[in-house]
Amino acid sequence: MEPYRIKVVEPIPITTREFRERRYAEAGYNQFNLTAEDVTIDLLSDSGTGALSAEQQAAGMRGDETYAGARSWFRFREVAEELTGYEHIFPVHQGRAAERILFSALLKPGQISVSNTHFDTTRANVELAGGVVRDLPSPAFADLDSDAPFKGDIDLVALEALLDGPEDVGLVLMTITNNGGGGQPVSMANLEAVGVLCRRYGVPFILDAARFAENAWLVTQREERFRGHSPREVARLAFRLADGCVLSLKKDGIVHIGGMLALQDQDLAKQCELLLIATEGFSTYGGLSGRDLDMCAQGLIEVTDPLYLRERAEATAYLADCAREAGVDSVRPAGVHAVYLNAGRLLPHIPPSRFTGHALASELYLAGGIRCAEVGSLYLGEIDPSGELITPAPFELVRLAIPRRVYTRSHLEYVAETLAGIAKDPGRVPGYRLTEVPPILRPFRCRLEQI
Ligand code: F0G
Repeated sequence: MEPYRIKVVEPIPITTREFRERRYAEAGYNQFNLTAEDVTIDLLSDSGTGALSAEQQAAGMRGDETYAGARSWFRFREVAEELTGYEHIFPVHQGRAAERILFSALLKPGQISVSNTHFDTTRANVELAGGVVRDLPSPAFADLDSDAPFKGDIDLVALEALLDGPEDVGLVLMTITNNGGGGQPVSMANLEAVGVLCRRYGVPFILDAARFAENAWLVTQREERFRGHSPREVARLAFRLADGCVLSLKKDGIVHIGGMLALQDQDLAKQCELLLIATEGFSTYGGLSGRDLDMCAQGLIEVTDPLYLRERAEATAYLADCAREAGVDSVRPAGVHAVYLNAGRLLPHIPPSRFTGHALASELYLAGGIRCAEVGSLYLGEIDPSGELITPAPFELVRLAIPRRVYTRSHLEYVAETLAGIAKDPGRVPGYRLTEVPPILRPFRCRLEQI
C-alpha cells in the first residue's frame, strides 16, 4: 500500500463522452491541445506532475531568496553532493537546460553523442550543439515480450566497435531508466562496463539520471549482486561510475520544476558555469528560486525511500497486469514510471500509416478522459510534408506515464477498465490522417482527423 496518506486534494474533471468528442475534435485530435479541464486522468507525463510532501512544502517555506550564496543553495548542494559524489554541482531550471549547457561546452561540431537511447530533448540539444546522435540500445529490447531484466542496457559490443573505429565520439550518455526504450532499467554491470570502455578510450561518461532512483530500485530487485542493498546505495554507486550527470529533477526530484548538471572535471565545469550564468542564472541558483532548491533537496532525500519505490513499482506492475488480463499487452517486464502499451498488437486493423499508437491513445481519451502519449510512427516515423508515412517506427506503443504520489490504485483500475472496454471490440477504433504537419516538433503541434 501507499506509505503516505492524502492531506490535500484537488478535484478532477468528470466528463461525458459527448463532451470529449467535441473537445478532441476542436483540439485537432492532438492531446497536447487539450486543457486540464478536458482530462480526467492525466498520464501524459510523469515530469513535474508529482505531489509534494509536507516536508517539501515546509522546506519551501524555509527557502532563502538571497541572490548569491543563498542558504537554500548550500542545503541543495549538500544533498546533491552526498548523492552523486560530483565536485561541481549546478542547478538549472529543468533537465534540458543542463543538456544544452553541457553539449554546448563539450561537443565539437560533427562529434557523436552515443547513448542507450537519447530522450527527444536530449537528441535535439545534441543536434543544436552541432553534434550527431547515435542510439545503441540492447538487442534484448527488440523482443517486447521477453522478461529479460535489463532491456535498457546499451549494446556493449556495438559501443566498443564505435569507440574503436574512426568516428569521433564526444561522449557516452546513459539514460537511466531508458525512457525512450520502454522505461527499461540499466544494470550496474552495464554501467560498469561503459565506465571501463570510456576510460580506455578517453571519452567522457555522462548519466541522464532523470529516473536514477527508479533505476536503482529495479537493480535491487533484478541484479543478483545488489539484492539486499538499499536503492540509495545503488544510486550513489551508479553516479560514481560516471564523470557527471544531467538530471531533470521534475522526475526523481519529485518537484514541479528543477534540474541539475553535475561534473567531476574542473575545466569542463568552468566552461559550463559561464554558460549557466549567461543563460540560466548565477551559479548558486541557476534558474530556480530558493524555495525550489529546498524542495528539490528534500525530494532527492525522499525519492530513494524503499517503501515509496516498492509501492510505485508495484502500482505500475499492477496496471500492466490488469491491462494484460483485459487483453492489452505492454512492454515486459513492467518498469516504474510508465506502462508502454503494445497498440500494434491490439489494433492490427490499423496500419502504421494510420497511426496505430495514436489511435489507441485517442480512444483512451474518448472512452475515459485518459490522456497519454503515443510512442509510435506519429512521433518517431519518417513523414513527408503532406502527412504520408514514409518509414514507420519500429513499434506502435502508447506510454501511460504515472505521476509520482498522485493517483491511487482505484484511479489505475479505472484506466484498466477503460482499456478493457476498448479491448472488447478493438475493431471499432478508427485510424487517423495528418491534416497539418509542422516541420519540427511534430507531435506537439500537428493536427489530425479520423478516417
Ligand atoms: N531526459 C529524460 C530521460 C527525460 O525523460 C526528460 C523529460 C528529459 C531528459 C528532459 O527533462 O523535461 O526537465 O527538460 N521527459 C519528460 C517525459 C518530458 O514526459 O518523459 P526536462
